[in-house]
Amino acid sequence: MKVLVIGSGGREHAIAYKLKQSPKVTELYAIPGNPGIASLCTCVPGSVEDNEFLVDFIKKNQIDLTVIGPEVPLCNGLADDIEKAGYKAFGPQKKAATLEGSKAFSKDFMIRHHIPTAKYVEVTDFEKACKEVDHFDFPLVIKADGLAAGKGVVIVENKEDAISTLKEMMVDGALDGAGSKVVLEEFLTGFECSLLCFTDGKTIVPMVSAKDHKQIFDGNKGPNTGGMGTVSPNPFLPEGMDEVLKKDILDPFMQGLKEDQMDYRGVVFIGLMIENNQAKVLEFNVRFGDPETQSILLRLESDLYEIMDACATYTLDQVDVKWSDDHVACLVLASGGYPGKYDKGIEIKNIDKVSDDIVVFHAGTALKDGKLVTNGGRVLNVCARGANLQEALAKVYETATIITFDGMYYRHDIGLR
Ligand code: AMP
Ligand code: GLY
Repeated sequence: MKVLVIGSGGREHAIAYKLKQSPKVTELYAIPGNPGIASLCTCVPGSVEDNEFLVDFIKKNQIDLTVIGPEVPLCNGLADDIEKAGYKAFGPQKKAATLEGSKAFSKDFMIRHHIPTAKYVEVTDFEKACKEVDHFDFPLVIKADGLAAGKGVVIVENKEDAISTLKEMMVDGALDGAGSKVVLEEFLTGFECSLLCFTDGKTIVPMVSAKDHKQIFDGNKGPNTGGMGTVSPNPFLPEGMDEVLKKDILDPFMQGLKEDQMDYRGVVFIGLMIENNQAKVLEFNVRFGDPETQSILLRLESDLYEIMDACATYTLDQVDVKWSDDHVACLVLASGGYPGKYDKGIEIKNIDKVSDDIVVFHAGTALKDGKLVTNGGRVLNVCARGANLQEALAKVYETATIITFDGMYYRHDIGLR
């Protein structure tokens, strides 16, 4: 089978790595990919936002299955366009992808289908938004409606900050229009965790758990990032939550897809807040998480291609999804300055010196004059398996002393409370 992966991050490297292990995958391509992915398959330059070019590539190369990694092409209707051309895609269609593409749409879906979530109000007018602030306590959560590459959620502590955040989003257009509509939301307390599932819209199969560490500094301090490291399984998940999550979240979610006639074949990544063994949904993402995927997929024992093809063909109920009992840690090596400004093009050294049992996924790298250089905020994802969490963590932290580049930064408390 010929398979194409769309995207260029560590998540897509991990997906390509697992697809490459499938005996059924005879040809693997990525658009645009990265130097790490290029070591596994053919990378073709091109924009993930150019549906016409991508569908044309799929037709010319007779691609059997296209796996769409990031949210932007999903929200642009790439899965719909691939299907219209008569080919298969792993990734939800545009209407279902709006569960990530619009916070207001997503909240409305949750309320209508009785999925527990924080109280909220949706507003499109700045003056009205300022008045609505008075109906909430502080801290207050302000969410830009549209996609904002992880920058669309701001938690404010007082009215003054609320008004200035609303002005930036709604009047000054700080997020390129993503904040012209906003959601004001009740602040939830508890313990945050993510639940990733495969689905074909009829069957939903939860993956093993993972814990992401979002803030840039140790002790969960500093601004949010895309994620600085993960461990799987999630060591903080309370026992016995599986049944609660199925009954309170997954069952009504699937019923909602059915009632709203949403064609959802791919991954749903549910951000949850858990308190007193009750879960509320913070957000839906319509794709694999990054860097959750890197640690989760290293524990997958079944054939990823078979699972993805089953999702694309509504036959997920016929696949047995098996996981290893290993613990996996994933440590993000980032550019100094990230998530603010940082330099690119810095040479990465000693990546060839890491031990054979370590998997290094490329997130933001490029080749320059034959040398591997930094090309993003999150540069590399160092992953290791262990019989327990301590063993996996010891291996990734050992590796972080071997690989180096100027300004390299990483958190020292991944997997710890
Ligand atoms: P979201 O993109 O909606 O998941 O929001 C990004 C982050 O903001 C989440 O991972 C939480 O840490 C935080 N957050 C979002 N909504 C809430 C809420 N209602 N209460 C507390 N924290 C929240
Ligand atoms: N790690 C969080 C995300 O992928 O959105």
